[in-house]
Amino acid sequence: MTGTIDTPMDPTTLDMDRVGEFAQQVGGMLAGGATAAMMVVGDRVGLYAAMADGRATTSGELAERTGLSERYVREWLAQQAAVGFVVYSAEGETFTLPPEHAAVLATDDSPASMIGAAGLITGMHRRTEQVGDAFRTGRGIPWGEQDTATFESTERFFRVGYRANLVDQWVPALTGVEEKLRAGATLVDVGCGHGAPLLVLAEAFPRSRFIGYDVHAGSVEVARQRAAEAGLADRTRFEVSDCHGYRDEGVDVIAFFDAFHDLGDPVGAAAHARRALAADGTLVLVEPRAGDDLATTLATVPLAPISFAASTFMCTPNSLSQPVGLALGAGAGARRLREVLQQAGFGSVRVAAESDVNLVMEASPTP
Ligand SMILES: C[S@@+](CC[C@H](N)C(=O)[O-])C[C@H]1O[C@@H](n2cnc3c(N)ncnc32)[C@H](O)[C@@H]1O
Repeated sequence: MTGTIDTPMDPTTLDMDRVGEFAQQVGGMLAGGATAAMMVVGDRVGLYAAMADGRATTSGELAERTGLSERYVREWLAQQAAVGFVVYSAEGETFTLPPEHAAVLATDDSPASMIGAAGLITGMHRRTEQVGDAFRTGRGIPWGEQDTATFESTERFFRVGYRANLVDQWVPALTGVEEKLRAGATLVDVGCGHGAPLLVLAEAFPRSRFIGYDVHAGSVEVARQRAAEAGLADRTRFEVSDCHGYRDEGVDVIAFFDAFHDLGDPVGAAAHARRALAADGTLVLVEPRAGDDLATTLATVPLAPISFAASTFMCTPNSLSQPVGLALGAGAGARRLREVLQQAGFGSVRVAAESDVNLVMEASPTP
């Protein structure tokens, strides 16, 4: 049953100012959810891209330039003006996308781009029934049963961070890894998804070999296509494999890009990686940024509301769908992750880098 509570509420005991303020806060959240859907549509039909030149436009001009229905474009523009994404001028009835907003909404090539994240919200909305059921049964939901919007959005949004940080910030922060990759090394990516980080690395380090493994066959197929389209198929290989199933040995670097906390058995996966690594190899975890406890995460991680939502809909259910079902969650934080790696036999675990969104850890296979 929803929408009813056992004990009827007595309105005379409530601070109605606080009720009003909180209702406004909730209204803002609902506007955010609705706006995510509007962002997906605006992106898909090319409205942000068409406004990226920063010129003031009427709905009629914009509809003409994009070949879209004016009536729909006008309604979309009004909503975008209501949330402050575009600026409305009553004189001339024009709408403008400021260049600073275009950097976030109109392109994937800006380090500030967030448009790719909107589809993640769409993906969640398409799984509310299944996740509600999972709350009742406690059963898991494998990653492969999520909506395709989730896969596409994960690839697109995370790629922004990988492009901005991976080669210039994170790899140099790891001990000796950049030198190895420049000279020619083997890097295995476990839980590779559509291969976004692996392809960024393969482009930057042409002498190295890159192997991606994922249990989700559909993702592996897409990763292969992306590699071929990018002209990187010569140095990349993508295979369907569970995190315990690959047979490589003497690997220089094994990385889990935003996948380690999703695993049912991260201790077992890390122990398997440890056996596959060369004695001087490096394990790398790129994980969502989180504090060591919930209070710290709530106070310091601006994306915590999205991170915990994604964790509820995707990360935790995926982990619970697999043996062990440790369900670290996206908010595991460095201390918990270190414990897991140490349990798997890794020594000298350290946080090598951090961004607004991610935590990068490295560990040596020697105890
Ligand atoms: C959040 S996605 C990250 C994808 C990619 N690494 C990226 O950063 O774009 C997590 C990935 O882990 C994969 N995965 C989940 N459980 C796995 C397992 N036991 N073994 C291998 N891959 C797994 C999922 O199929 C999914 O592609």
